[in-house]
Amino acid sequence: MPGSASRFHPDGKCLSGSAMTTVSDRRTFAIISHPDAGKTTLTEKLLLAGGAIHLAGEVKARGQNRRARSDWMKIEQQRGISVTSSVMTFERQGITFNLLDTPGHEDFSEDTYRTLTAVDSAVMVIDAARGIEAQTRKLFEVCRMRSVPIITFINKVDREGRSPFELIDEVADALALDVCPMSWPVGMGGTFEGIYDLARNALHRPAADATGAFEGDSVPVGGLDDPDLDRLLSADAVNQLREEAELAVAGYSDFDPVAYRNGDLTPVYFGSALKEFGVEQLIDAIADFAPGPRPQPGEPRDVSPEEASVAGFVFKVQANMNPQHRDRVAFMRLCSGKFKRGMKLTQVGTGKVIAVHSPILFFARERELAEEAFPGDIIGIPNHGTLRVGDTLTEGEAIRFTGLPNFAPEILRRVRLADPTKTKQLRNALNDMAEEGIMQVFHPSIGSQWIVGVVGQLQLDVLISRLEAEYKVDAGFEASPWDTARWIAADDDKQLEEFKGLFRSALAEDRDGAPVFMAKDMWELNYVQGRHPAIRFSATKDRR
Ligand code: G4P
Repeated sequence: MPGSASRFHPDGKCLSGSAMTTVSDRRTFAIISHPDAGKTTLTEKLLLAGGAIHLAGEVKARGQNRRARSDWMKIEQQRGISVTSSVMTFERQGITFNLLDTPGHEDFSEDTYRTLTAVDSAVMVIDAARGIEAQTRKLFEVCRMRSVPIITFINKVDREGRSPFELIDEVADALALDVCPMSWPVGMGGTFEGIYDLARNALHRPAADATGAFEGDSVPVGGLDDPDLDRLLSADAVNQLREEAELAVAGYSDFDPVAYRNGDLTPVYFGSALKEFGVEQLIDAIADFAPGPRPQPGEPRDVSPEEASVAGFVFKVQANMNPQHRDRVAFMRLCSGKFKRGMKLTQVGTGKVIAVHSPILFFARERELAEEAFPGDIIGIPNHGTLRVGDTLTEGEAIRFTGLPNFAPEILRRVRLADPTKTKQLRNALNDMAEEGIMQVFHPSIGSQWIVGVVGQLQLDVLISRLEAEYKVDAGFEASPWDTARWIAADDDKQLEEFKGLFRSALAEDRDGAPVFMAKDMWELNYVQGRHPAIRFSATKDRR
């Protein structure tokens, strides 16, 4: 039987008031999904269940208010979407949840990927009719790189969907994960009668006259054989449930918290974000199973969240909050220590000391200035461009957090400059924005036009708009012959030089001078890779 009926802490400890520490009480997570799978709806319902908001629709409404207030990016207003991700915090039963938004539609960018370097776990939302889709898979790969544990939520069971077996098998096969169904839908769409909680042996039923939210009740039963189920469900539904759920319990893995936390197994929940069904179970699962702040890899040593001294890393920089002042907010994930407002932190690398007088502490309910933050929390640090993505901040110790990579761009464009006398401004602007981590800039070995690389289309529009607004550079982008890029390396310098000689027209350097191979498409990349086994082609590169 998968799971257990008790609320148990990942470390096996019971969650009871006084036993909690600030470290194990934090759940810093993100939702990964393909557009339209229901991420926004689920976010809203999680915030509602956590008491952070009171009205459905507030996630979007709040976003719009915020945009109107900050009035910062024409593009955001024109398109009515948020270019940058944010942090949403709510508390429930003594646990603080930090939900980091991963922008998903056209605003998919390197930020989306990098946000996943700042979380301790993720929820993967899948549309029951569509299964695993392209963007989910990409985001999953980033989670896998860091062994981020994943809880799967199969959404929209209130509509006709694919068979639960087919969906679970797809998760197992496509992502090469062990799967453990924690709940089972009793029918879907028109035949939907509820969800059976396999871990706690309870039947969640929608209210008989449900039109909007399903509300309904949760009835504990003695197990799948309990005759009460015959009374609670229609004859067809109960037969189907028993048959399917028994097969599922026998056929899939048991829930193993260690395998989950290592990123090898995903517990699978079914539900409907729209109808608020299965959402509480999901929050409970995050509270019960998801890890609190994990130790973070660093050099010369890893950093444990239990350490007293403050250390954190910047995973995102939001620029242009106010075009007049070139202000930026650096989002720092706190990895250890108790942060206090006014603290002086050292930017490792430059040695600069920054007094953090006005941190934006997202765990505060209304984003007012708060006095302290704990490992797992995100702190927004206003600055004038000093802080860059990948920076480590400490109380003085020279530690550098690793594993905050650049991700191989998926769109490459040549930069066309309208006024050639602005070459220097363009170079500075591109360098600045590359440093910020919102795009990458490559210098091809042949030709003089810079190439910019991004992972989402919207980033290109953002770049053009920022070049104009901030740097007064009139530039555009034109198609490049390449589609993707990989950093290249080899153990033997001679072999690397030979490779570079062969592919001079497809070579470039990134802003640090590291060699990059650009390919027309994945087919060409795979072909060249296959022919040159001595060369390592890397889709990520550590930033510093
Ligand atoms: P996203 O952020 O992942 O892109 O998805 P979003 O929540 O915006 O949901 C995409 C569409 O799917 C929305 O419908 C939303 O109402 C619907 N949806 C989300 N969860 C469920 C669910 O559990 N069941 C059903 N039946 N639908 C769900 P829309 O018509 O595109 O937008 P809207 O007009 O409803 O906002």
